[in-house]
Amino acid sequence: ADPLSVGGTDVPDPDSGIDIHSTAGKLADLKRRVAEVAHAGSERAIEKQHARGKKTARERLEMLLDEGSFIEMDKYARHRSVAFGQEANRPYGDGVVTGYGTVDGRTVAVFAQDFTVFGGSLGEVFGEKICKVMDFAMKVGCPVVGLNDSGGARIQEGVVSLGLYGEIFRRNVHASGVIPQISLIMGPCAGGAVYSPAVTDFTVMVDQTSHMFITGPEVIKTVTGEDVSMEDLGGARTHNTKSGVAHYMGSDEEDAIEYVKALLSYLPSNNLEEPPSFADESAELPSLEVTDEDRELDTLIPDSANQPYDMKVVVEHVLDDGEFLEVQPLFAPNLIVGYGRIEGRSVGVVANQPMQFAGTLDIDASEKAARFVRTCDSFNVPVLTFVDVPGFLPGTDQEWDGIIRRGAKLIYAYAEATVPLVTVITRKAYGGAYDVMGSKHLGADINLAWPTAQIAVMGAQGAVNILYRKQLAAAAEAGENVDETRARFIAEYEDTLANPYIAAERGYIDTVITPSNTRMNVTKALRALRSKRETLPPKKHGNIPL
Ligand code: HXC
Repeated sequence: ADPLSVGGTDVPDPDSGIDIHSTAGKLADLKRRVAEVAHAGSERAIEKQHARGKKTARERLEMLLDEGSFIEMDKYARHRSVAFGQEANRPYGDGVVTGYGTVDGRTVAVFAQDFTVFGGSLGEVFGEKICKVMDFAMKVGCPVVGLNDSGGARIQEGVVSLGLYGEIFRRNVHASGVIPQISLIMGPCAGGAVYSPAVTDFTVMVDQTSHMFITGPEVIKTVTGEDVSMEDLGGARTHNTKSGVAHYMGSDEEDAIEYVKALLSYLPSNNLEEPPSFADESAELPSLEVTDEDRELDTLIPDSANQPYDMKVVVEHVLDDGEFLEVQPLFAPNLIVGYGRIEGRSVGVVANQPMQFAGTLDIDASEKAARFVRTCDSFNVPVLTFVDVPGFLPGTDQEWDGIIRRGAKLIYAYAEATVPLVTVITRKAYGGAYDVMGSKHLGADINLAWPTAQIAVMGAQGAVNILYRKQLAAAAEAGENVDETRARFIAEYEDTLANPYIAAERGYIDTVITPSNTRMNVTKALRALRSKRETLPPKKHGNIPL
């Protein structure tokens, strides 16, 4: 290859009438190049992309960013590779569109992989462009949104591609907890390439058109003999329901992008800022009246402790306008996490869901909540916890899969969080799960309980079977009705222990409130906690059990 042509620029076609020796000609030459940038992908590739229900990189950025706000960086960047005859094909941009723009008026750095150019595969220059935009985001302290749609490492460029992936991973890690990082998966995302999204704060996939896996169906077939389709292996539904890799499944690209915009609205631009406030700062804080809607909570808890109710009703009654942006709604549904606002300010909600597996904590739920609490803590979002948990899920599966070390993450997350923590116990708070779910002992600031709360080492049934084993056996021997005796013991246990007052007596619960007063109490707690400052002992970093 001629090094001059590889490194150099292409001159306008003599028939184009552009004379680059004049100022007007230079301007016309720029215009020609701009047009070339916009048409880097072939018509055929764009048609193929559209036929699959996928948009191009630029169309996606248009959906994400405020109109006219996008400023492209490195649009004239081109690869320098001469292997496999690549010098003959050096499209502008090298298959990734990078730059910055605004979402709801706030600066966001972006990169959008362009599948219509080299299958969006990542070569040296492609990787350098992503690194540059990430470095820019770190300098200015703005979120990075990555739109992934790529055949992975550019095969022709070999190990250099792998090197650039590594550079991106390192930047993802260093940016973690400093600026929000959000990954949209809008096509294939394979091999080690999935690890950049995995390190980011949120991964959003699109139903049917996005896939993530370390090794694809063909390799799996060869190595293990398993037959699995691409969709089953690594489609959006799989990663939203089974693996927990993804945080949201968009019904289409637009839905996925709207979700990302909504997420951004709850997060600050960086860890030194507060999340955007939609409160009218000039207005006096309103006195909080109990509304008819609030009063609906007074009849929510069923008389029977075994009867479920929908915890989302509680969450929606407390948040502004009942608006709740759920995160990972399809994964570990026994625990709910997501964002809302109270008095216009962001709050992260963690709540047990009695409608699913009685709200027990298992490995998936613990990790889901732990990750969420840490994300909130990184970005100065207070955490509001609603507790109705009968305990950890028993079973060999759970024990052997490591519920001890994996459940411990939730303890770790709450105990290390320094953002305002407000916890409301609506019903059960049994055993270790009481401690774990944002208890006073782990550092929560304000702990409230409803009169229906049952705070104890375990539920009445289990407790009576252990405490009164001898008495129950004796009753059986004496020919008494054991069920009746047990019921008596259970009633006794419930009457004396299954309430919030023993915990309140100790100050573990700050106050017991009527359910209809929840919004008012939580709001006032968050007002007071706005000036909370807490620091942990200096250290290199903690050693969270992974
Ligand atoms: C170079 C690539 C490419 C790649 C696709 N293309 N992947 N070029 N390197 N990795 C090119 C194709 O040659 C084709 O070019 C165009 O992109 C579109 O690809 P198609 O195959 O026509 O598209 P489709 O049928 O949709 O299939 C998409 C695909 C498939 C499933 C992604 O292309 C594929 O399997 N690609 C290889 C994937 C892979 O093994 N990548 C390496 C993974 S390892 P033309 O010119 O014909 O249009 C890896 C390691 C990362 O990524 C490690 C990080 C640590």
